[in-house]
Amino acid sequence: MLIKIPERSLVLLIGAAGSGKSTFARKHFKTTEIVSSDALRGVVSDDESDQTASADAFQLLRMITGMRLRRGRLTVIDATNVQRPARKALLALAAQNSAPATAIVFNLPAAVCLARNQSRLTRPASAEVVEKQVADMLSSLPGLDEEGFQYAYVMDNTGDIDSAQVLRETWNM
Ligand code: CTP
Ligand code: MG
Repeated sequence: MLIKIPERSLVLLIGAAGSGKSTFARKHFKTTEIVSSDALRGVVSDDESDQTASADAFQLLRMITGMRLRRGRLTVIDATNVQRPARKALLALAAQNSAPATAIVFNLPAAVCLARNQSRLTRPASAEVVEKQVADMLSSLPGLDEEGFQYAYVMDNTGDIDSAQVLRETWNM
């Protein structure tokens, strides 16, 4: 799959815990382009899996994203982004800064996400949590275009994810 991303845009990775978002982000984007909710939980609490740090982490995430978009910097959100309200706040930041938004969906079954989750060093998410995230991701698919994403790419299996190529498009082509 060829994933075209306009420069100066906002990219939302959408997928359950263990779907491979952070691995994909590291492969295709610069470290400074990635804004990660896990990393920001770690920044404020010393523990990336401390859910009590989520509100602060997401406040920081939106602050950093707004600042980067104001500067016209490509920004990739590494968070599950499976619920519409979470995406809405980020899409609003993109719109405020006249930045196009791209969705990249990791559409993998809960079983695959859970199996990968078990291999994580930090406390893995529970089966219930991952299954809910996959259900939310699936119910998000039909409405992504109308939410305001210019492009929505859905990767339906691990082969799609492993072979995906990211192409950055410049504005004046
Ligand atoms: N993984 C893998 N093969 C891939 C991609 C990921 O085996 N092609 C493994 C990773 O090494 C990691 C686990 O699957 O141990 C989860 O991948 P990760 O990228 O961390 O998933 P995320 O979607 O970022 O999960 P989270 O939301 O929990 O951060
Ligand atoms: Mg991750």
